[in-house]
Amino acid sequence: MSVCLESPVSMKKISAPKGMRDFYPDQYRVRLGLFKAWEESALNHGFEFYDAPVVETLELLQRKAGEEISKQIYVLEEKGSQHLALRPELTPSLARMIIARQGELSFPLKWASIAQCFRYERMQKGRKREHYQLNLDIVGESSSMAEVEVLGAAVLAMQSLGLNHNDFYIRIGSRSLLSALLKSVGIPDAHFMACCLVLDKREKISDDEILELLAKEGISIDDSGRIFDLLGIRSLDEVRNRLDGVSRARSALDEIDSFFESAAELGLSDYLSFDPGVIRGLGYYTGIVFEAFDRKNRSRAIFGGGRYDNLLSSLGGKTMPCVGLGFGDVVITDMLEELNRDPVMGRRLEYAVGFMDVQCRPLASRVASRIRHSGLGCDLGLSGEKPRKFFSRANRLHAAHAVYIGPSELKSGRLGVKNMADGEIRDIRFDDSTDFESLVSAG
Ligand code: HAM
Repeated sequence: MSVCLESPVSMKKISAPKGMRDFYPDQYRVRLGLFKAWEESALNHGFEFYDAPVVETLELLQRKAGEEISKQIYVLEEKGSQHLALRPELTPSLARMIIARQGELSFPLKWASIAQCFRYERMQKGRKREHYQLNLDIVGESSSMAEVEVLGAAVLAMQSLGLNHNDFYIRIGSRSLLSALLKSVGIPDAHFMACCLVLDKREKISDDEILELLAKEGISIDDSGRIFDLLGIRSLDEVRNRLDGVSRARSALDEIDSFFESAAELGLSDYLSFDPGVIRGLGYYTGIVFEAFDRKNRSRAIFGGGRYDNLLSSLGGKTMPCVGLGFGDVVITDMLEELNRDPVMGRRLEYAVGFMDVQCRPLASRVASRIRHSGLGCDLGLSGEKPRKFFSRANRLHAAHAVYIGPSELKSGRLGVKNMADGEIRDIRFDDSTDFESLVSAG
């Protein structure tokens, strides 16, 4: 079969779909650095990695609570009998995997994953139609140590990217406390979920629009005023005063007290700030919820999550306590760029090796093999080149050291190892025992 291609002259430039990203090597380097910080922090905190397909059944992903995320799902053209879709988040897949082996797995379990997710978003800063998320989840633990552990791992990832409590903080709310507070001012339970989804839009849309949405849910102007008043609370003492004697609030208060206590034990207090206005836009959260923000710029959350004790049972599994968070790559990458911080950009290339012509190639190949087998990264030229061209390529590749093989190296068996940072050249003898590793640590 012959394929008819349009002539290149008439071909339009094809761009990536709107909101989807290409990663050229410079951007990929940043991504590698971020993924490395994520992976190492998760492993450091005892999480095990897992993965799931990017395509799931629509039945699993779609929920009926009226959450924004359900309207943002990319549904695939039907193939066969199942309606399929690109995942907008990983949590339903995690729940599906746990439910499938709920009888065999040992709980509590701590699982992590780096997942690409797709959401049909309105184009705005910090939001793309595709992004990567580190997911950290603990399944089977009802104590607030679970919240503290997922947050501890996320904070470590931030620290390894060079950020600390002066740069970001985590706002802590509680859906169970909010439910008790709303009840205390006369808002019936039946309105709770709708209130959460509307109130989560605060700071994203105007208060008038919020009032309109609350009115649509059947909440009177007076009640809305009382709700806004509750969101102004900033201390747990004030919450305690308001809920004094409200029996249903007891366990929610105990839960948040023990959370702050355990977080202090792990040295996280400087990062945390209580705020009942943190609600989250996903329907499944049931207890403590949290979102991390840049201290200077409160545009979008860097990461967010919380407790979701009913998701497994709502999908047909046995009830089991769950806590987790999603930490996206877009907001953090923008933040590092704005702060002019260079995240640890993946693994650096320790050596570049080049050669003048085919006669010099066997020695260059032996040198590169030796470097690579000692576990160091090495780029080997693909064809003969002049020294100038080689050294400028080594520079562009950010190689730490460069070795060029010309006729004199071939004749003498000696190599000049150039330190690309200070230009110093070390003259060494090359044989099977040459230790390139110690050259790197010395240089
Ligand atoms: P989420 O708040 O929808 O939670 O997303 C978590 C993080 O993913 C956000 O804080 C943000 O960093 C990033 N993110 C979300 N949507 C976009 C987007 N369109 N463009 C760029 N970044 C985005 C969840 O997804 C929950 N499933 C997290 C979770 C895990 N809860 C429990 N376990």
